[in-house]
Amino acid sequence: MKTAIVLAAFGSRHQNAIASLDHILERVRAAHPDLPVRLAYTSKVIHGHMRKAGTEVQSVREALDELLADGVTHVALQSLHLVPGNEFHELLGLANEMMLMEGGFTRVEVGFPLVAGETGVERVAELILSIAEEGKGENDAVLFMGHGTRHDGAIYYEALHRAFQKRDKTVHMGVMEHQKEAGIDAVIARFRADGVKKAYLVPFLFGAGWHVARDMIGDSEKSWKTRLEQADIECEPLLKGAGEYDRLVNIWLEHLDDALKRLSRC
Ligand code: CO
Repeated sequence: MKTAIVLAAFGSRHQNAIASLDHILERVRAAHPDLPVRLAYTSKVIHGHMRKAGTEVQSVREALDELLADGVTHVALQSLHLVPGNEFHELLGLANEMMLMEGGFTRVEVGFPLVAGETGVERVAELILSIAEEGKGENDAVLFMGHGTRHDGAIYYEALHRAFQKRDKTVHMGVMEHQKEAGIDAVIARFRADGVKKAYLVPFLFGAGWHVARDMIGDSEKSWKTRLEQADIECEPLLKGAGEYDRLVNIWLEHLDDALKRLSRC
């Protein structure tokens, strides 16, 4: 049995997002000094951008192909995504394919993303609320900006919002794309109803990269900061990705431990 770890991140070419990737890579290497650890990206768009910029990046399939050629038999494939959407389900499909193929791995176990299952929602909500609490200061509300997805995994954003609201009415989860009912228009309507004048704006994204620079705090008409300011709501943005918080990274590390445990059982 020869085991390796692959961390599958959406990927980012933005300098500010690298902090999250470096941080989790360091934590995983420290926790598993005896195992090879690879970082691979699931976003095809990001690959093109990064190759053009001259940065060497691997897709998850490329990383797995290389490990297989190196004689690795067991892989813990850890998702660094926040919710189980398309990208996570593609990992499950790829793991299945790489086990069933001729000469494939003996076993590939996929680790859950940050929020997975009902206990996941409650626990992650508590940890995120502790982050919200720290920065609240003079703000009337805390707004987390999630990515959003067309996938059924979208229910996790709603579940987090409900979990926040159950504990603290001033904490909200919104999404950038695909779910209008959780989009910025809906958030602004709620803020108006609640009389919110100042909001703490926090990314719910693995890294504080491109989406933060453009969609959260950018100068365009569409950015959340612009939209909130147009509604007379002042913003205090926090430029930190989920991967920079040890308390959240701990959850990903636990999911990785579970995947490694499952590997050791076969
Ligand atoms: Co995106």
